[in-house]
Amino acid sequence: MAKKTIEDVEVAGKIVLMRVDFNVPLDGQCKVTDDQRIRMALPSIESVLKRGGRLILMSHLGRPTIGEDNARFSLKPVAVRLGELLAMEVAFATDTVGDDAGAKAGCLADGGVMMLENLRFNPGEKKGDAEFARTLAEMADVYCNNAFGTCHRADASMVAVPRAMGNKPKVVGFLVAKEIKYLTDAIADPRRPFVAILGGAKVSDKIPVISNLLRICDKVLIGGAMAYPFSLATGGKVGDSLVEPDKVGLAKELLEAGGDKLVLPVDTHCGDAKTGDCNKQVVEAGKIPDGWQGLDIGPRTAKLYAEVAGNANTIVWNGPMGVFEIPPFDEGTKAVAQAIADGRGISIIGGGDSAAAIGQLGFAERVSHVSTGGGASLAMLEGRTFEAVELLDDK
Ligand code: 3PG
Ligand code: MG
Repeated sequence: MAKKTIEDVEVAGKIVLMRVDFNVPLDGQCKVTDDQRIRMALPSIESVLKRGGRLILMSHLGRPTIGEDNARFSLKPVAVRLGELLAMEVAFATDTVGDDAGAKAGCLADGGVMMLENLRFNPGEKKGDAEFARTLAEMADVYCNNAFGTCHRADASMVAVPRAMGNKPKVVGFLVAKEIKYLTDAIADPRRPFVAILGGAKVSDKIPVISNLLRICDKVLIGGAMAYPFSLATGGKVGDSLVEPDKVGLAKELLEAGGDKLVLPVDTHCGDAKTGDCNKQVVEAGKIPDGWQGLDIGPRTAKLYAEVAGNANTIVWNGPMGVFEIPPFDEGTKAVAQAIADGRGISIIGGGDSAAAIGQLGFAERVSHVSTGGGASLAMLEGRTFEAVELLDDK
């Protein structure tokens, strides 16, 4: 997949339309609480600005519902944060393909940057609408996909816009190139033992990934709510835990296919409510009583997982081991994060929550790569390719 990068195109005096993933968390006051995705996009942004390109940035934020009050999904605070990081003015258009965007794009000077309002405020974005895409593409001389976190989506700005560029250059940004290289290399030629640790609550998203990981990894460790369909599949009880019963059949198949490669928790830290001050107890996995829910892996599991992680030469981690935003149910996730940080292997962290855990614990510098993509990095681990990247110009 050698794709042309932003470095390979002449940008001086040209308008570069760059798709970024600035879908970042905002607090109640609409301040950006984690700017990792913005910071990671800076090298490509700066490359364009330094060479005298005129940059138009476009992104989505959250999942707004068309027709509702979507003020909290505005990208304005993100443009402000970007301006602080770049130490320059970032113009902000209050629309995407409307008059304000057109007027501001017309005023862009060489080395100047503007940001469009949330793409998903326009129904054409999620629909992949060709007309919407054509209007965006017409603004630009060069298209750049620097939105790794969104690469698994076929939204208009990801697929229809580069298509509508016709023969004009369409390239990847450094962030997309770097993330794809890291994840591809990890899968293609891993140093063994190669261990994957999967957790989190979005079980349906991740169970399909397990099949592919079982094919390529030496061990696949399961934590978080993802463990509960496996408990049900082996006749265990999960009490009131978060579980999707329709995944039990698939869990059975994976247990058969995985053999001893697939490692499940041996104990579970439960609470009688999802709060920090609830009553708590540690039970054997699959023995969660009614009225109780599993909120973290138990201490024996944490120790076991930390040992396996510590011995890995390549490790991929996606998803927390429990409800890590509510201590003490953060202990399993912390133990895993610590073991990965202390480990000697190549470590790749994907998914917002695992990345946040690594960041909060101060371990970001002690792992090889923290991905800006959750779903996108999982899609890669599933072995999928991205249309949004395939259609860009080859080197
Ligand atoms: C993400 O945060 O996962 C990406 O920005 C994609 O967002 P989406 O899941 O709403 O498409
Ligand atoms: Mg997501």
